[in-house]
Amino acid sequence: MKVGLVGWRGMVGSVLMQRMQEEKDFDLIEPVFFTTSQAGQDAPIISKATPAQETKLQDATDISILSTMDVIITCQGGDYTKAVFPKLRESGWDGYWIDAASSLRMADDAVIVLDPVNQDVIKRALDAGTKNYVGGNCTVSLMLMAIGGLFEKDLVDWVSPMTYQAASGSGAKHMRELIAQMGAVRDNVEDLLNDPASAILDIDKKTAEFIRSNDYPKDQFGVPLAGSLIPYIDTQLESGQSREEWKAEAETNKILGTSENATPIDGICVRVGAMRCHSQALTIKLKKDLPVEEIESILAAHNDWVKVIPNDRDATMEELTPAKVTGTLSIPVGRIRKLSMGPEYISAFTVGDQLLWGAAEPLRRMLRILLE
Ligand code: HSE
Repeated sequence: MKVGLVGWRGMVGSVLMQRMQEEKDFDLIEPVFFTTSQAGQDAPIISKATPAQETKLQDATDISILSTMDVIITCQGGDYTKAVFPKLRESGWDGYWIDAASSLRMADDAVIVLDPVNQDVIKRALDAGTKNYVGGNCTVSLMLMAIGGLFEKDLVDWVSPMTYQAASGSGAKHMRELIAQMGAVRDNVEDLLNDPASAILDIDKKTAEFIRSNDYPKDQFGVPLAGSLIPYIDTQLESGQSREEWKAEAETNKILGTSENATPIDGICVRVGAMRCHSQALTIKLKKDLPVEEIESILAAHNDWVKVIPNDRDATMEELTPAKVTGTLSIPVGRIRKLSMGPEYISAFTVGDQLLWGAAEPLRRMLRILLE
């Protein structure tokens, strides 16, 4: 199978490449590397000798070359998809399009892929001849990897996710800026920190002034993140929701194939100073009163990556954090308890790597499904 890779050098693309190498996906395909800016330069050498065309980077806007692919996987972003995808289809290309960007997600002829959760939806779409498969919003995919078991058993009345989203969701430059902010905050009070006799309120005052000043680096985020947070992600909608908040209900129900009878899912999305793990505090109204132990076993049985963390202080502090999860496919979910609102109301807290299950992993798994 000839697989065209576009946007493989960016952040999500690099994580995808890494995962494809780890899982030996390249042994099963004929990869062709595309570029929007460096056509003709050497393509990366992956694993085996490749025929002439594949040793050079191909032009990612050249419809005639793209249309010789059986599959195209793109992490190039929404603008690329909008510019190239319609032309490619108009040219009569009938291959599989696997996309990390959101542009095609809600289209009727596209499926949002998260196979541990919606393998049945994907299989039905393949049988029906659907050719467009799109990765979900990271927060949505991570929530479903954590509590997919409750949806599978039709136990969810509604969910309110309150998110703690990492800098990586905004992009690579934002991750760098977050670290620069952290360093600048520290450097600004270095002398006072080094003096054990200094007063904490002096340190605090100087820090607050610095964070509000123009010396604090914030070109990417526009406002402070380190030492603060940003309770708005993506664009503003008429509904009062941010676009990120709107996606929770729209995409979850599309993934599950329940858009006709949608489960309400709504909350507030917040950017915090984590690097690449999104966390979410979930308030869930169940359709019935179930013992916590049963809820935990339903969650744990759903897929190979979810890990139930007992609602215990030490276990939670060790296991249920971005620091622990970053760079792994593990999806811990914990803080599961009954809320005082009533026996059907439960809390849960979950963490997941935004670049792995939140972006790259569902795409390479979709390729694997096509190769089956
Ligand atoms: N929209 C997400 C965020 C990124 O800003 O964190 C990936 O879907």
